[in-house]
Amino acid sequence: MSGHEQLSFLNEVDLAALTIEIEAAAHQPVAKDLATQLREFHGWTIDKLEILRLYLRGGYVRIAGGGTYIDGFAGQGEGEYRGALRDGSAVVAAESDAFRALHLIEQDPTSNARLRDRLEQLAPRLRKRCHLHPASDCNIAIPELLDGGVIDRTKPCFAFLDPNSTELAWTTVERLAAYKTLVPKPDARRRPAECKVELWILFNTHQAIYRLWTGNRTRYPDSMSPATLDHVMGGRDAWWDLWESRQPSVALLQRYVDRLYALGYTYVLPQPIRDPEDGRIHYYMIHATDHPSALGLMRWAKRQTGRIYATELPGIDQF
Ligand SMILES: C[S@@+](CC[C@H](N)C(=O)[O-])C[C@H]1O[C@@H](n2cnc3c(N)ncnc32)[C@H](O)[C@@H]1O
Repeated sequence: MSGHEQLSFLNEVDLAALTIEIEAAAHQPVAKDLATQLREFHGWTIDKLEILRLYLRGGYVRIAGGGTYIDGFAGQGEGEYRGALRDGSAVVAAESDAFRALHLIEQDPTSNARLRDRLEQLAPRLRKRCHLHPASDCNIAIPELLDGGVIDRTKPCFAFLDPNSTELAWTTVERLAAYKTLVPKPDARRRPAECKVELWILFNTHQAIYRLWTGNRTRYPDSMSPATLDHVMGGRDAWWDLWESRQPSVALLQRYVDRLYALGYTYVLPQPIRDPEDGRIHYYMIHATDHPSALGLMRWAKRQTGRIYATELPGIDQF
């Protein structure tokens, strides 16, 4: 469908709004903490990283160890939370000892350099497995990596995709999903012989994507960005019907989940990541996998962190 044909669906008010929206489309919100040298972690960041750590160390090693890890938005390898340094996703994955090779992609040159320094502090046998890519856009670097044929299709592959905002292109998700095919084992139904690339996607609902979906189109015409939605959702056809039928923003999450199923995943589980202090949802972590054990393990890891952060401990008020 061309952009021209789409405009013919609009009435005059929507058309005027859309013109402003398209002009604003180049704007991609950037997290405030990126302006600082060392990234600041929030309670919900710690929660997310703790789920990752528990998941990888709590059974993943046994079920799917020895494969490849891809971190598309690898960050700095660490961040600061309440005055203390905490490991970022790349370091959590490396220290889990679950992977033979880790491909780490970080676009920002300063963060990329910080990550390199942090990786040097790993034990040499863990450091050797880490391939830090030059600062680049993962929507270009991941397809190049897949085309390069260095990722063993016969081994498990896990991609952690944790953008700040709306940077993850649907085309990148499609490329990852197409890289490997599910091969069920006819004699043991619960253990596939080979799985597709397992995906953990931070779908930034409340902090970014829902803000593109204005409830009051007349009052906030420029808060919506069709080009950004195209980029995240996979083209105009992926969301246009929701816009036309005035669906609430949550329909975008459901549509994204449906589109992951359509890429061939057996299980797609969106889990809310909340602020541990006030319970507000910040984003959804969407887990797409073919392996039934992976799903149970993820639920277990999520429950553990819920317990860690939801339980009141003596002395907690000292923070
Ligand atoms: C939410 S942070 C990731 C944090 C990381 N997972 C951690 O645990 O520390 C997102 C990171 O992605 C980087 N980034 C943004 N757009 C990118 C892109 N298109 N390709 C690669 N990295 C990108 C940002 O510079 C930022 O460091």
